[in-house]
Amino acid sequence: MCGIVGYVGPKATLDVVLAGLGRLEYRGYDSAGVSVIGENGKLETRKKAGKLANLRNSIAENPLPSSHIGIGHTRWATHGAPTDGNAHPHLGGTDLKLSLIHNGIIENFAELKAELVAAGTVFASETDTEVAAHLIAAEYARVGNLTDAFANVVKRLHGAFTILVIHEDEPDVVLAARCNAPLVIGLGDGENFLGSDVAAFVEHTKRAISVGQNQIVILRADKVELRTFDGEPVEACEFTVDWDASAASKGGWSSFMAKEIADQPQAVADTLMGRLRSDGSIWLDEISGFSTDDLKAIDRIIIVACGTASYAGDVAKYAIEKWAHVPVQVELSHEFRYRSPIVTPNTLVVAISQSGETMDTLMATRYARELGARVLAICNTQGATLARESDAVIYTHAGPEVAVASTKALTAQITAGYLLGLFLASARGATPRTELAKIGRELLKLPAKITKVLDGLEQAKALGTEMANAKSVLFLGRNVGYPIAMEGALKLKELAYIHAEGFAAGELKHGPIALIEAGQPVIVIVPSPRDVDSLHPKVVSNIQEIRARGARVIAIAEQGDTEVSQYAEDVIFVPQTLPMLAPLLTVIPLQGFALALATALGLDVDQPRNLAKSVTVE
Ligand code: AGP
Repeated sequence: MCGIVGYVGPKATLDVVLAGLGRLEYRGYDSAGVSVIGENGKLETRKKAGKLANLRNSIAENPLPSSHIGIGHTRWATHGAPTDGNAHPHLGGTDLKLSLIHNGIIENFAELKAELVAAGTVFASETDTEVAAHLIAAEYARVGNLTDAFANVVKRLHGAFTILVIHEDEPDVVLAARCNAPLVIGLGDGENFLGSDVAAFVEHTKRAISVGQNQIVILRADKVELRTFDGEPVEACEFTVDWDASAASKGGWSSFMAKEIADQPQAVADTLMGRLRSDGSIWLDEISGFSTDDLKAIDRIIIVACGTASYAGDVAKYAIEKWAHVPVQVELSHEFRYRSPIVTPNTLVVAISQSGETMDTLMATRYARELGARVLAICNTQGATLARESDAVIYTHAGPEVAVASTKALTAQITAGYLLGLFLASARGATPRTELAKIGRELLKLPAKITKVLDGLEQAKALGTEMANAKSVLFLGRNVGYPIAMEGALKLKELAYIHAEGFAAGELKHGPIALIEAGQPVIVIVPSPRDVDSLHPKVVSNIQEIRARGARVIAIAEQGDTEVSQYAEDVIFVPQTLPMLAPLLTVIPLQGFALALATALGLDVDQPRNLAKSVTVE
């Protein structure tokens, strides 16, 4: 939540900061603001409720001076409504020479605020953030050195925070502190950057440093220093960003979501690349740190994730249990963290997260490690906290996902889950190698098959447009189709703000069938009629049961399924594949359906209301 940008260097600061905020706006769009120290030595701030466009308009009306140092923020509101006054930056001190931005929540802000109010400080906002601005300004007045003052105050803050500060009296330095919220440094030539993630500066540099927990950054144009909160120097660990800036731009598409749906063949192919050979054999270098004995000793896998990533985990559960014969449970990270799960040294915890910064998932993995488990991350973002804090990482190579609604990250996560299942099955000798190779070879065909589904996406989109006035849409699936049904419903809720539920088709008669009335749209993910588990006739029976009660049925079925056409008003066919791999195909029409329905309602599909891409608070 919240995007943060800092810059010091010779470029036009406002342009750098606004462009960075544009790339981070997916992290929150309740308000945006910037502060710069102008060449006249004066600190100036502009901030505005609403999207970044409002801030740009406000700056056009009331320009900022040229400058070589500045900070910018895009907000997802926690403390205080999304107003101009609560927008960041917040100013500190009676002279208002200090400007501060913050991502996170300062949990002890009430007691710190009481202390400041007692000393006569007058607050201009309802935020927790402003407390930090006044505390640092007061401490600076006391100790006379901005870095020392900053270090003294951040140690007093509890909760989750990344904070950036600039001050008129020390106009060549941006100070930053990181505790439980993301922060990355971009290293330039005579210029340096700070960002919540690398998207903030990737157009300027690909050299980056991921800032660790409880560390302070002292950023100047020609020098970057890292220290612990206790003042100990920290050796920086530099990495190279493998995204390029164009990957994070719309490139002619109507929305990032539309582009990211279209990116999926590439996202899946890139996630497979170098890991699956053409003969179907697999090598996951990333988990070479686990010996064959380690892998054989695993007696339980717990997958922790939230939202869409948890549905990728559900699909992985089916694959891993079937191929590798290890029991798998999928837990929402925020539930796992606050109960007493049975975790032993033989438990492998798999944390799935696009951003690698979801606080619930980070807390779950920390908890799992405290309990003695080893943690394997499936993550899309280099340098993310989750990657740093896990024993091993399988990166999904989906490229930057900007739209809040996850699409290509999901298909890349499902792909990574399959790779993990195949690798474990092979290492444990749980499924004959010939069978695993057959699955591997089919997996390699999936990018081309996804392209075929995309070629026919207009049908799903037309249905979405047609159903723009629906009050509710239900989704049914079975086996690996069940998590896809839930994902279809989530996409519709978050994009179109209409009631949508995903059910296991077999559960229908245990209650949800009461929801069916004349005209109720129901999208059914139909299993392959070739599936040896014979789920197809059961789902066809479910379709008949709901149609008898007036449901309008849209089926997602595999090509060649002639039977289903008799029972559904519309059928969207996807290419045949192994039933276990079908989610990579069946989810695509659901994405197109939700995109079109929300677009028909005139909604912003990239930035749905109340949401943020990366949920960095618990
Ligand atoms: C999906 O469309 C969501 N926006 C959301 O459920 C997301 O998948 C979830 O918040 C997890 O995010 P992560 O993958 O970055 O951890």
